[in-house]
Order: sequence, then C-alpha cells, then structure tokens
Amino acid sequence: MKLKSLKLILAAAVLSFSTAPAFSAGSSVPLQDAQVNLDNKLSLARGAKFYANYCMGCHSLKFSRYNRVAADIGLEEEDIKSIIFTRNEDNEINKTGALMENTIPTKDAARWFGTAPPDLSLIARSRGGGDWIYSYMKSFYRDDSRPFGVNNTVFENVGMPHVLLELQGMQELEVHDDGKGHVTKTLKLVEPGKMSVAEYDQVARDLTNFLVYVAEPAQLHRTFYGVLTLLFLFVLFIFSYLLKKEFWKDIH
Ligand code: HEC
Repeated sequence: MKLKSLKLILAAAVLSFSTAPAFSAGSSVPLQDAQVNLDNKLSLARGAKFYANYCMGCHSLKFSRYNRVAADIGLEEEDIKSIIFTRNEDNEINKTGALMENTIPTKDAARWFGTAPPDLSLIARSRGGGDWIYSYMKSFYRDDSRPFGVNNTVFENVGMPHVLLELQGMQELEVHDDGKGHVTKTLKLVEPGKMSVAEYDQVARDLTNFLVYVAEPAQLHRTFYGVLTLLFLFVLFIFSYLLKKEFWKDIH
C-alpha cells in the first residue's frame, strides 16, 4: 500500500514537471519551443550567416574561431570568408583562424545602449537552453517610451534595438486582464516586414540553433564518442570474460 502511494506521488511529480510551461525570468510570458535540432546543418549554417550579418556588429563570440565553426557546421571556405568583417591591427580583414570578435568598441556601445552588448558564447547555457533566445527574438514590440522605440516581453526594458525589424515587422502588445488578477500578454503583428511569420520564425530558429551549438560545440560529436565508448566497453567485456574463464578453469 505504502509503495503504491509513493509511486503515485512520484508519477504526479514527474507529470507536473513535464507539463509545466517554461516561463521567462521575472515575467508572466510563457516561452515558446525553439525545437532545437543540431543535426540540421543547413539551419546551423544559415544561423551563422544571420549572426554574422545582424548580430556580430555588437555581440562577439570570443571563444569561437571562424575556421572551427566552419568545419563543425560544414561551411565552405568561401562562405566563411564572406562573413568576416573584423580587421586585425594592420587593418586587414581577419583570416579564418581569427576569434569571432565584435566590431564596435565596448566602451562606446555601453554609452549608446546603456549596457554593453554581452558576449553571446554561453548565452544558450545561462538562459537555460534555446527556448529563451527563440522567444526573445520574437518578442520585440513597439514602445515609444523606450530609447529605441521597442520593448520586449521576455526581457523587460531591454537595451537592444530590434535589429531584425525589417525582416519581422513591428508588433504591438495587447494586454488582457480578466479582472481576477490574471493578466495575459499577446503580441500582434501590425506592420509586416519583408518576411512572412513562418519565414521569420525560421530565422529565429536558425539563430537559436547556432547559439545553442556555439555554447557547447562538442555536442555535435558527443553521441559519436558515446557510441564509440560503448563499443569499446563491449569488446573489453568479451576479453575480460575470456580471461576470467582462463583464470578460473582449474578451480571448478
Ligand atoms: C546594435 C547593437 C546590437 C545588435 C546588432 C544586436 N544586439 Fe543583442 N543586445 C544588445 C545590447 C545592448 C544588449 C543588452 C541589453 C540589456 O542588457 O538591456 C543585447 C542583449 C542581447 C541578448 C540578451 C543577453 C542577456 O543578457 O541575456 C541576446 C540573446 C541578444 N542580444 C541576441 C542578439 C542577436 C541574436 C542579435 C542578432 C540578430 C543581436 N542580439 C544583435 C545590442 C545588440
């Protein structure tokens, strides 16, 4: 009887964990599922290009080198060269072995945006996975009281401008209050951008995929090494068993 009730409690606990929607810190907005898929190399490659074009002006990835990223996600030499905009001390465009640094000086950036744009190498880990990043990229809305005319439901009073405005278009916030203290926030696209909603979702997903990969590049190879290790242990087991038989054969 006791065991049965214990099992029930455990089952309830597991269920409540798995069905509870994830919420962004300090906000009542549920996060959206980024459907991170690191096997999708095309998505990673698109994400890297979007990142170089739209984000790297402000955000560095200071633990990554262009050539390592290229090799990991299958970008061609030419592709990787086309996304290098930073220059070395001799004012030449950096080589593919360079670190992925940003182009604006941190001091100026801190003055312009109120906060320096952080390095995003580990953002997927510090924000607990891709869902936060994905939701953040989709949650900018018009707010004329903010310096850049936008706010974000996932990151309130954010210092970052909506850099993908031309792609996504402008959203507006609609707040519904049911009078019982339950407030829901929804975003409505009021001025469409160059892309359809589905196309923009894909951009946000590609960027998220890329940032999840960057936060731990070894993820791409981890399963391979896991299988290799299991195979090794299996072979070792056969030899250990044979050895054991050999050692014990006179005793039985
Ligand atoms: C014009 C400069 C600029 C560009 C370009 C830019 N950002 Fe930002 N970003 C910022 C600033 C400034 C912050 C810090 C906001 C704050 O703390 O209020 C920020 C914050 C962020 C954060 C949250 C970091 C945290 O502390 O949790 C993420 C994620 C992010 N940016 C992603 C991106 C992505 C992805 C792109 C490209 C699509 C991008 N940013 C392009 C300036 C920029």
